[in-house]
Amino acid sequence: MNLRSTIATPAGKRRFVRGLFATIADRYDFITPALSYGRDRRWKERLIGLARITPDDRVLDLACGTGDLLFAAAPKAQCAVGLDLTFRMLQLAAAKPGRARTPLITGDMLALPFARSRFTVVTTGYGLRNVPDLAQAIDEIHRVLTPGGRFLSLDFNRPAQPVVRAAYLAYLTIVGSTLGLLLHGDPDTYRYIPESIRSYPGAEGVARMLEQRGFTDVRVVPLLGGLMAIHFAKKKSAA
Ligand SMILES: C[S@@+](CC[C@H](N)C(=O)[O-])C[C@H]1O[C@@H](n2cnc3c(N)ncnc32)[C@H](O)[C@@H]1O
Repeated sequence: MNLRSTIATPAGKRRFVRGLFATIADRYDFITPALSYGRDRRWKERLIGLARITPDDRVLDLACGTGDLLFAAAPKAQCAVGLDLTFRMLQLAAAKPGRARTPLITGDMLALPFARSRFTVVTTGYGLRNVPDLAQAIDEIHRVLTPGGRFLSLDFNRPAQPVVRAAYLAYLTIVGSTLGLLLHGDPDTYRYIPESIRSYPGAEGVARMLEQRGFTDVRVVPLLGGLMAIHFAKKKSAA
């Protein structure tokens, strides 16, 4: 079965994503700056700036990976928790000097092990695009946020303009396949990125889903000429 049909079903995507991130975890901190031409750090700083975290905030970073957003948020907040599906990612995060006493939890953002209204801020970097059920992930984020709580997500966009989209996906396919072959002997490893973008609703589509599922003040901050995006949204306050 090829990559596109594998990730076309929720079960196939779940299985592929689990294997993928366990495979790439040890190279993740090398590959992310390389694939973004060093811009990833600035995008994450931008997201943290938009979150306006205060010492009263309780922050949850979903799909925290090796901890970039989590460890940037933690010193500003009352507490910060990282959650990721991939245990190896959390082991690498735990070994980082900035980790302090930040809890790291192995878990699935489709079934968060937290009570309702537990956090005032939820962040995720390159998280939403990887879940097999986006609506369920948004509902879980909404559940664990306090009314008025903020949600911020950084991810690839799916350009609406067909020519731009085709060129962008072709570029990512060539670069991704080459890097996957060189680093892991498997072109599908990073060709997954453009394939996941194909079946993703894109920044505007995600914004509409956030509005439909109980968020307000939804904003899309375009990055890299709109090829990447940050979402900002607030859980509606109780009436
Ligand atoms: C591209 S990495 C992003 C890591 C980090 N957030 C960053 O911005 O560098 C995507 C992460 O999502 C995690 N992930 C994928 N599906 C997930 C899920 N359903 N629940 C929680 N984490 C998930 C993977 O294990 C991986 O660490």
